[in-house]
Amino acid sequence: MTETGTPQLNAAELLQELLSPAGRADPFPLYAAAHRLGPVLPMSDDIFLVVGYGAANDVLRSPSFEIPTEPSSRPSLDLMQRSILRTNPPDHGRMRSLIGQVFTPRRVAGLQPTVEAAVDELLDALPAEVDFMDRFAFQLPVTVICELLGVPTADRHRFRPLASDLTAALELTDTADEAADAAAAELGEYFTHLIRNPPAGGLVSALVAARDADDDRLSDEELLANLILLLVAGFETTTDLLGNGLAILLDQPDQLTDPAAFVEEVLRYDSPVQVTTRVARDTVDVAGTSIPAGSNLVLLLGAANRDPARFTDPDRFDPLRTGNKPLSFGAGAHICLGNSLARLEATVAFTHLRAATITRTGEPTRRNRLVLRGYQTLPVTIRPGRLAGYFTTDPLQQASDNTTR
Ligand code: HEM
Repeated sequence: MTETGTPQLNAAELLQELLSPAGRADPFPLYAAAHRLGPVLPMSDDIFLVVGYGAANDVLRSPSFEIPTEPSSRPSLDLMQRSILRTNPPDHGRMRSLIGQVFTPRRVAGLQPTVEAAVDELLDALPAEVDFMDRFAFQLPVTVICELLGVPTADRHRFRPLASDLTAALELTDTADEAADAAAAELGEYFTHLIRNPPAGGLVSALVAARDADDDRLSDEELLANLILLLVAGFETTTDLLGNGLAILLDQPDQLTDPAAFVEEVLRYDSPVQVTTRVARDTVDVAGTSIPAGSNLVLLLGAANRDPARFTDPDRFDPLRTGNKPLSFGAGAHICLGNSLARLEATVAFTHLRAATITRTGEPTRRNRLVLRGYQTLPVTIRPGRLAGYFTTDPLQQASDNTTR
């Protein structure tokens, strides 16, 4: 045992523990144990765990590492393999530049009024007792991404279970099952119909127009895969960011002074994406470890965000830390295309939530995932307010806070 009570494990044991129910629920002591072993941990001759911030950052930015693209017999994985998330040069650059032409910073900035209106509307419609995940954390990003894509908002209730089933395919264990394949089929059918009848003004019609302008730039299958990726990536992770942030706030009510800095620290402290993977194209040295060409790398982004060599007192939630640049959106060629949209949504949401009175009413439940980290349920009462407010987990504390502010 170490002085912190975590047994000293080797890299393979660490990964095994991380994948256990206890490890998924609370991976952070295991990340701390990993940092004591070093930034890059060999699990075998050709499998490496990357836990150091500098090492993970270097791997993400280096052209010597690519997305693993082994063919899959599972339709759910096959679908994702055709999107920009799972492709390499030259296909990745071709698709990313095309999508980047329609999903522009200006379009994202133009969504601010939509986001503000959606937050207001959702908060106004909340019943006194509510599952925050269901009634807010999911609703906000799904509303915004449907608006951006031009997906009819009436259909949005269908997407939470479908996205959850589909993204099970991204977990490191073999959780991609029939449900994931069925979700891929249903989303495929839905978007095929939408591509044939694109609603005016959204990204669906913009991408259909881009495909029609030049057949070589985006195949029909790629168009479909990328639209589904944008929908699913557009709300699942943002839902988790909102839930992870609210849970922190309920425990540490004084931390929300600057909403943008608060969101950045939530991203670092409890990242909605904890893991990604790469394969080495060349033999490369990373943080002093030689990685042979063909090796598989498991990048623990959530661990990199808690690297004591990069962040002072990494297990402390501190929105005031300077130079906070978590790796939660990745880095390099695949850096999250939606990072400014996710930041916008979360910052607007927490700006409004700051004025509300929020009380925990029951035990939250975590989703049983390692790669995508979030809550399944988060029961609270919310009383929206227009003035600077306070948060508490204890009504008595709430009352006393009220008299001192
Ligand atoms: C808190 C919210 C989000 C988090 C934590 C997140 C995280 C990530 C990460 C880590 C990657 C890179 C994966 C890798 O390099 O292997 C990524 C890629 C991507 N994200 Fe996000 N994301 C979020 C929100 C969004 C939103 C709102 C959208 C779209 C509207 C989006 C669209 C994408 C796309 C299209 C990619 C693929 C980019 C590429 O491979 O070139 N994400 N995201």
